[in-house]
Amino acid sequence: METSRFTLLGLLVSFSFFLTLSAQMTGNFNCSGSTTTCQSLVGYSSKNATTLRNIQTLFAVKNLRSILGANNLPLNTSRDQRVNPNQVIRVPIHCSCSNGTGVSNRDIEYTIKKDDTLSFVATEVFGGLVTFQKISEVNKIPNPDKIEIGQKFWIPLPCSCDKLNGEDVVHYAHVVKLGSSLAEIAAQFGTDNTTLAQLNGIIGDSQLLADNPLNVPLKACSSSVRNDSLDAPLLLSNNSYAFTANTCIKCSCDALKNWTLSCEPSQIRPSNSTWPTCPPSRCEGAESLFLGNTTSSSCGPRSCTYAGYSNQTIFTTLSPTCPDSAGPGSGNYASTFRSSFNFVMVLIQCALLCLCLL
Ligand SMILES: *[C@@H]1O[C@H](CO)[C@@H](O)[C@H](O)[C@H]1NC(C)=O
Ligand SMILES: *[C@@H]1O[C@H](CO)[C@@H](O)[C@H](O)[C@H]1NC(C)=O
Ligand SMILES: *[C@@H]1O[C@H](CO)[C@@H](O)[C@H](O)[C@H]1NC(C)=O
Ligand SMILES: *[C@@H]1O[C@H](CO)[C@@H](O)[C@H](O)[C@H]1NC(C)=O
Ligand SMILES: *[C@@H]1O[C@H](CO)[C@@H](O)[C@H](O)[C@H]1NC(C)=O
Ligand SMILES: *[C@@H]1O[C@H](CO)[C@@H](O)[C@H](O)[C@H]1NC(C)=O
Ligand SMILES: *[C@@H]1O[C@H](CO)[C@@H](O)[C@H](O)[C@H]1NC(C)=O
Ligand SMILES: *[C@@H]1O[C@H](CO)[C@@H](O)[C@H](O)[C@H]1NC(C)=O
Ligand SMILES: *[C@@H]1O[C@H](CO)[C@@H](O)[C@H](O)[C@H]1NC(C)=O
Ligand SMILES: *[C@@H]1O[C@H](CO)[C@@H](O)[C@H](O)[C@H]1NC(C)=O
Ligand SMILES: *[C@@H]1O[C@H](CO)[C@@H](O)[C@H](O)[C@H]1NC(C)=O
Repeated sequence: METSRFTLLGLLVSFSFFLTLSAQMTGNFNCSGSTTTCQSLVGYSSKNATTLRNIQTLFAVKNLRSILGANNLPLNTSRDQRVNPNQVIRVPIHCSCSNGTGVSNRDIEYTIKKDDTLSFVATEVFGGLVTFQKISEVNKIPNPDKIEIGQKFWIPLPCSCDKLNGEDVVHYAHVVKLGSSLAEIAAQFGTDNTTLAQLNGIIGDSQLLADNPLNVPLKACSSSVRNDSLDAPLLLSNNSYAFTANTCIKCSCDALKNWTLSCEPSQIRPSNSTWPTCPPSRCEGAESLFLGNTTSSSCGPRSCTYAGYSNQTIFTTLSPTCPDSAGPGSGNYASTFRSSFNFVMVLIQCALLCLCLL
């Protein structure tokens, strides 16, 4: 009698504890900032050996080079490169935010095979990046126990486009390993335990759920990419590279280069047939300078920097900007125009004065 009451009490306590946990670490990442789409990363590891090709297919990544860049692997790495069990590969995904939550767009689909259960798909095939409840919810599956071979489901992976304290970050979905702590994870990814706890809405290690995704903000390199560029915001974290502007430009981020994005012409043919060739990457206002070139100016060295692209052109800028930006080579056409305008006004005034004197 006594024992059973205690067991019941114990059950109740652990049940409410479980409820608290699942209410807190939901596997959803908040995404409520002004940016509604961006690139995000997930950390994928498979229990069985696999290949980059399989990972590319599973996550519907268009170009292998996006995976290579996210992991800073050489460009000539083969698709059939083996990936060891439990080796973590960073996979870039397209993130869309709505209703305060970020999820991968609908590109990632999975077709049910023989003997699959939704739970197997979530925890084994997708390595715990998603829960079967979430797959079931977004696909409006009436009964998760009754799925059929050949059915296709959208796999909504967690992601976010939010800034962190006003700074650009790349959100990384890290599947928590059993026995790890916030402090360990923070040290591994160059952040701190308080930030991780706040971002994920948990109070500490006791609420860290193994085998579930944790939102880890990776510091991003600062860039000069305009907010109206087709690739804005261009977010890259330390030790990674990516191709942009229809593959005409290769950008990389290295913490050792002062966390500043460095971009150069890729020497690859444009991926999009709307561009027959890559447009020249001459710096605006400094015709002898090309993307990646550095020039010296009265305010120190300045370089021709990638500033984004439109469907017609590649934008560049000279940066950092000089405090006294007026001289030639500043790329500031407006100010050049204004000084010649002033000069004309002075001429006109002189002429008028002369007329009056006559
Ligand atoms: C990739 O290229 C580098 C030189 O750039 C070479 O050393 C390496 O062997 C190549 N790797 C493969 C897998 O071809
Ligand atoms: C947003 O969330 C609300 C409440 O959770 C829900 O009723 C609504 O359908 C959601 N809208 C979208 C577009 O997901
Ligand atoms: C991993 O390999 C085992 C044994 O071959 C198999 O039963 C299991 O389904 C595989 N897991 C995945 C995710 O394919
Ligand atoms: C996520 O957003 C919800 C709704 O806006 C908010 O209540 C919650 O505190 C946010 N969580 C975190 C960890 O910021
Ligand atoms: C972060 O780590 C410090 C020192 O290790 C500890 O005192 C603090 O409670 C931790 N905070 C969280 C939210 O885990
Ligand atoms: C884009 O940048 C311009 C100037 O830097 C700014 O005025 C504008 O508000 C920005 N637009 C958005 C949508 O952030
Ligand atoms: C950046 O990445 C390199 C290579 O992985 C690593 O050695 C370095 O510690 C990282 N720096 C920071 C600040 O994260
Ligand atoms: C590093 O970047 C910061 C701001 O991004 C800048 O203030 C600082 O001068 C840079 N340092 C060097 C050595 O370039
Ligand atoms: C500028 O960059 C172009 C293309 O990368 C290169 O061919 C040229 O030598 C560079 N010029 C200077 C002055 O560095
Ligand atoms: C190619 O460029 C056009 C115009 O910018 C754009 O509408 C289209 O989506 C692009 N196609 C691809 C595959 O990126
Ligand atoms: C490209 O831009 C021009 C002007 O900015 C616009 O008229 C045209 O429709 C755009 N083309 C595509 C394919 O988006």
